[in-house]
Amino acid sequence: MHLPFSGGLIRSCQPGDSDSLAREADNRNIWLTVRDRFPHPYTRAHAEAWIDRVTSDRPETHFAIDLGAGAVGGIGLELQKDVSRYSAELGYWLGQAHWGRGIMTAAVSRFTAYAFETFDLCRIYGLVFETNPASQRVLERAGYALEGRLRRAVYKDGRILDQFLYAVSHPPRLPHLPSCEGMDIAPS
Ligand SMILES: CC(C)(COP(=O)(O)OP(=O)(O)OC[C@H]1O[C@@H](n2cnc3c(N)ncnc32)[C@H](O)[C@@H]1OP(=O)(O)O)[C@@H](O)C(=O)NCCC(=O)NCCS
Repeated sequence: MHLPFSGGLIRSCQPGDSDSLAREADNRNIWLTVRDRFPHPYTRAHAEAWIDRVTSDRPETHFAIDLGAGAVGGIGLELQKDVSRYSAELGYWLGQAHWGRGIMTAAVSRFTAYAFETFDLCRIYGLVFETNPASQRVLERAGYALEGRLRRAVYKDGRILDQFLYAVSHPPRLPHLPSCEGMDIAPS
């Protein structure tokens, strides 16, 4: 995958990304705003295992953000299952040295369009801790709407936090399911 956006490139991870990914991801300020499954400390071995996994996933759903000197962040989708099979959860992070330059707003906007073009999705959503106004802003500027505040939904770093649910919906593009024509899904 090779998806240019304003300011950078979203691309498939490569084995040579492990050093830069580990360097950028090994940051408590990143860990504080993501799930605990994101390792901290984040080692080269964690990066290698991640690259192995995401480059063998089919379909490929997790990618690197490259600003011209290697992978310095990540963006991806968790495709949902069962009755949520036409939904996906968006996730992303960027090395702290690159924050505040509009990079993730541009990346999320471009990647959201790509995701709707590429996968059979009616809905993409993101979950953001109340302590992360920058990520809330990214989603708002990328066209996501605030759907709700999930009270006391998260336990992170010894604290219970609220979480915001943002989503963008899309008319269904499911030719194999003609009954979707009548689905009550408003374009966002
Ligand atoms: C959240 C994150 C992705 C933002 O990336 P970024 O490239 O710095 O974001 P952008 O520069 O595109 O936009 C950030 C916006 O938040 C705003 N912002 C930043 N800090 C803020 C704060 N403390 N309060 C309010 N707004 C804030 C910026 O002003 C900007 O908004 P603007 O474009 O209207 O001025 C990045 O900080 C990150 O990777 N954090 C750690 C991982 C993470 O939080 N991932 C998402 C989990 S839901």
